[in-house]
Amino acid sequence: MKVLFTGGLGYIGSHTAVEVLNEGFDVVIVDNLSNSKIGVLDTIKKLTGKDVGFYQIDVCDKDALEKVFQENPDIFAVIHFAGYKAVGESVREPLMYYENNMISTFNLLRMMEKYNCKNIIFSSSATVYAQSEIMPLEETFPLAATNPYGRTKLFNEHVLIDYQNVHKDTNVILLRYFNPIGAHDSGLLGEDPNGIPNNLMPYICKVAVGELDHLNVFGNDYKTKDGTGVRDYIHVVDLADGHVKALQKVVREPETGLKIYNLGTGVGYSVLDIVNTFNEVNGDLVKYEIAARRPGDIDECYASSKLAEEEIGFKATKTLADMCRSSYEYQKNNKKK
Ligand code: WQD
Repeated sequence: MKVLFTGGLGYIGSHTAVEVLNEGFDVVIVDNLSNSKIGVLDTIKKLTGKDVGFYQIDVCDKDALEKVFQENPDIFAVIHFAGYKAVGESVREPLMYYENNMISTFNLLRMMEKYNCKNIIFSSSATVYAQSEIMPLEETFPLAATNPYGRTKLFNEHVLIDYQNVHKDTNVILLRYFNPIGAHDSGLLGEDPNGIPNNLMPYICKVAVGELDHLNVFGNDYKTKDGTGVRDYIHVVDLADGHVKALQKVVREPETGLKIYNLGTGVGYSVLDIVNTFNEVNGDLVKYEIAARRPGDIDECYASSKLAEEEIGFKATKTLADMCRSSYEYQKNNKKK
């Protein structure tokens, strides 16, 4: 069975491609390399021993996307990762985010309709949830995005839900990721953002290898156990497994319909938990200073993944130590040349 990955050379897409290939599916990747590197394709092939179809195209280019569907008429499912994902950038460039993150989905659904593809798994995000005093977050909790990036994720959810409502024979699975970190055990795949990282773990890794001087902890006056922000960090390979489980569900149950799942661990860790665990596991490499809060950050956010566990057998198994160790291993292998 063939699965089309949009954005498949990115951090989460590439780790998922490895697990999906290892599960016996065929994979075709489309990626415009705007936030990924072509070398990742060979790494995926090397890690799996499998061939992988690849098209360097922009999913917003409808004609280019149609060529992919014409040349791969047997696409069983699409996993839609492609999209810009930097919260701060989305505030500065909202139109760029709405154009890219929405037109890509419109084009995909038009091609799925035209070429009779009946399954889509969408990379959604915890960012679609409204601020909540109650934790852990459940899929039925109120939704409200607070930045253009988050709104594109929320709008995409609505587009997919409304599409499935009139295409009842199409299965739509929305996967709400919490905070993916970590890297493949081989040390050959990992998070490799362009420029200065926005997210915590890639920033910590660059401090650990000496590319950045110290970590700025954005605030220690939150309503949490140690005052620093609490998030649900999930190993990217556990997250990839969640996609395998979702694929297996639509294979097993052709009438799956619409499903929405949180993919997290159910455990919240603070920024200092991450720093301390990283230093325990990898050596005392990360110095930090307390800095001002980052606008838009919330006190805490962690998932209930009970529904995914019950309905698709998803369960995160890797530990925070695994996440810190694998992140650092990859960063060491991937030091700025
Ligand atoms: C985690 C914690 C920061 C950097 C974002 C997106 C979300 C998703 C994951 C795509 C917070 C603190 C961070 C730093 C710090 N992306 N921090 N110093 O903000 O929870 O979620 O990435 O879907 O949509 O919003 O992740 O890693 O940026 O921050 O103290 O240099 O680390 O304040 O408490 P976040 P993050």
